[in-house]
Amino acid sequence: MAAIPITLPEPLAGGHPSRSEPVSESVRLGPEVLIWRRAFSARPDQASGARRFARFLLAGTVFADDAELIVGELAGNAIRHTRSGPPDGHFTVEITLTSARHAALTAPASAVNVLITVYDLGGGGIPRFDDGGRHDSYEENGRGLAIVTALAARVGHQGTPAGGHRVWAYLTAPDSHPAHP
Ligand SMILES: Nc1ncnc2c1ncn2[C@@H]1O[C@H](COP(=O)(O)OP(=O)(O)O)[C@@H](O)[C@H]1O
Ligand SMILES: [Mg+2]
Repeated sequence: MAAIPITLPEPLAGGHPSRSEPVSESVRLGPEVLIWRRAFSARPDQASGARRFARFLLAGTVFADDAELIVGELAGNAIRHTRSGPPDGHFTVEITLTSARHAALTAPASAVNVLITVYDLGGGGIPRFDDGGRHDSYEENGRGLAIVTALAARVGHQGTPAGGHRVWAYLTAPDSHPAHP
């Protein structure tokens, strides 16, 4: 099955969503691409709110479990490590689904790629995906992005500590092997 390639990362029209007013919306970019975007206030329970959002959108798909875990890690990082965390902060979760090439995306279950992005307000350091060796395997801290990396086909981040980061993970369905990605 040839998959619609997602160009990673795509600059968003209107700029970094977390720097503007919080928005919640769904956008269809043609028949093969569907985006959901939702802003969460930085209450402590909102990492689980973000997890439920991903679980709800991707229920019944092969992505549900991994996406829920990944969103929880990325949202937790936005709350814990950035200005998105204090009471007046917020972060934005964006889930982009694409279908097989030339196939309409009729339901989340027909998606073959999922791009998960969390936007934060910055204010601290830089997301570190490769902390290998700094922590032993029994330590809870410092492993979230390593787990995200293990689950995703690709991961990355853009942005700056001053302006905020977008941190993303790209998942592909197990049976989608694009011949010409
Ligand atoms: N959104 C982010 N903005 C700035 N720094 C981040 C962000 N996410 C992660 N980091 C940095 O990357 C490190 C590794 O993240 P992670 O693997 O999730 O470990 P932990 O959150 O337990 O420290 C964090 O300790 C933090 O310094
Ligand atoms: Mg973390």
